[in-house]
Amino acid sequence: MRNVATIKTASELRAHLDALGISLPFDDTVQSGPDSPLARPYVLGDRAIGNRFAVLPMEGWDSTADGRPSELTRRRWQRFGSSGAKLIFGGEAAAVRPDGKGSPSQLLISDETIGEIAELRAALVRAHQEYWDTSSDLLVGLQLTHSGRVSKPHDMKRPEPVILYSHPLLDQRFGVTADTPVLTDDEIAGLVEDFIRAAVLAQRAGFDFVDVKHCHGYLGHEFLSAVDRPGRYGGSFENRTRFLREIVTGIQAEAPGLDIAVRLSAFDFLPFQGGADGRGEPVPFDGKSYPYAFGGDGTGLGIDLAEPLAFLDLLTELKIKLVCISAGAAYNIHLMRPAFLPPLEGYRTPEDPLIGVARLVSVTAELKRQRPDLVYVGSGYSCLQQWLPHVAQHVVSDGMADLVGIGRMCLCYPGFVADVLAGRALNRRLICRTCGDCSSAPRNDMVSGCYTLDAFYRNRPEYRQLRQLKSQKQRPQSP
Ligand SMILES: Cc1cc2nc3c(=O)[nH]c(=O)nc-3n(C[C@H](O)[C@H](O)[C@H](O)COP(=O)(O)O)c2cc1C
Ligand code: SF4
Repeated sequence: MRNVATIKTASELRAHLDALGISLPFDDTVQSGPDSPLARPYVLGDRAIGNRFAVLPMEGWDSTADGRPSELTRRRWQRFGSSGAKLIFGGEAAAVRPDGKGSPSQLLISDETIGEIAELRAALVRAHQEYWDTSSDLLVGLQLTHSGRVSKPHDMKRPEPVILYSHPLLDQRFGVTADTPVLTDDEIAGLVEDFIRAAVLAQRAGFDFVDVKHCHGYLGHEFLSAVDRPGRYGGSFENRTRFLREIVTGIQAEAPGLDIAVRLSAFDFLPFQGGADGRGEPVPFDGKSYPYAFGGDGTGLGIDLAEPLAFLDLLTELKIKLVCISAGAAYNIHLMRPAFLPPLEGYRTPEDPLIGVARLVSVTAELKRQRPDLVYVGSGYSCLQQWLPHVAQHVVSDGMADLVGIGRMCLCYPGFVADVLAGRALNRRLICRTCGDCSSAPRNDMVSGCYTLDAFYRNRPEYRQLRQLKSQKQRPQSP
């Protein structure tokens, strides 16, 4: 597998993509300056988003035990602010109540923490203003979530799953036992209230919008696949989207003026695991059709956009304009986070990661083509490394997405967007290598950050711990 970092020219990249048999359009040269495609503002309602870059939500597993941001959280948000991206799509996942934390160190939005979360947003905006003079064209959202099946509020080694239905392949993986209760319809109604309360607090803290998270296997996403669940919240598409409808209606009534966005896993596959050689392969499933992949075609490995398109229609009905397209979950992480190297305890990529990038880009483009009135933020570009701006420029110029979301690249190289917009040569030493360390650390109960390229994290004690772990554990090697 050839690492894209070694590809020096546009014709080499074209030949490489041809050899992989994928279509991933890109521009040979990247323009800079205020009129360049990536610098053009996007008008969203009565607000302008100053350019076409968004920072994707990224947790650091570094909040205090009671869910307040720490110094590390503030540093990350300040770097998001100074990056130059004019849309902060959610900052990071904030749990709407304690049992929905995905780790003991997840941000929690509550009456007690809201003052510090407001200060976190303000610090981001100040950092932005310091570098970019104005923040009037900066839009900042907060991602609201309940971790559902993936909840670990007290101890990273002790799953405390909150489930909507029993899943034949995921229950065991996430510590679901015969005693694990399934959330009742009444309990779901309580959870809807928690989301609404969290949105009211977010508005009070100054956020422009909240993202009602529907991706990556967390609770919002699990509703979309609750095909077997009886009652008001399962079975039909209408029932599976009732949770979203109730939250949105409540937010619109109780936090008027607050915008709402959704981050969606627009397709999903079977869970994956490492095979004998460490390479990812789908978990065997002996059913005739795999029904638990929202946006899947029933095979567990294919895409059918009929329901995602119906979901986008629902967003329009609910007067939601802003949607960020992602895919899959932690159980098939190559869909969401294409990477050359796997994190510890992960599986080796089952495909060239550029195939994963192309899949995300083309699905987003297809959704945009069929439902052009929504505003789309794309995800999963970091793996493109020095070619990211080339693909990003093509995507926004060609209307394949409205904004390009940056995840890992922003952790290791917060000045990336600024360098692209100014036409400066990229600093190759800071380009994300998709090495997985920012995922390996939290999987092993350490704060997350770029241990590979950010000296700040390399100087922390966790760096040594992570290196030790990497040398101890049999890490699957990339071919
Ligand atoms: C350390 C880390 C933390 C993340 N935290 C979140 C999160 O809180 N919410 C979310 O929706 N996605 C989260 N993601 C996924 C990213 O938002 C993004 O979708 C993914 O990294 C792919 O984009 P990229 O290729 O630019 O990194 C996280 C990813 C990483 C690496
Ligand atoms: S640790 Fe740094 S280089 Fe590695 S994937 Fe994360 S951000 Fe990229």
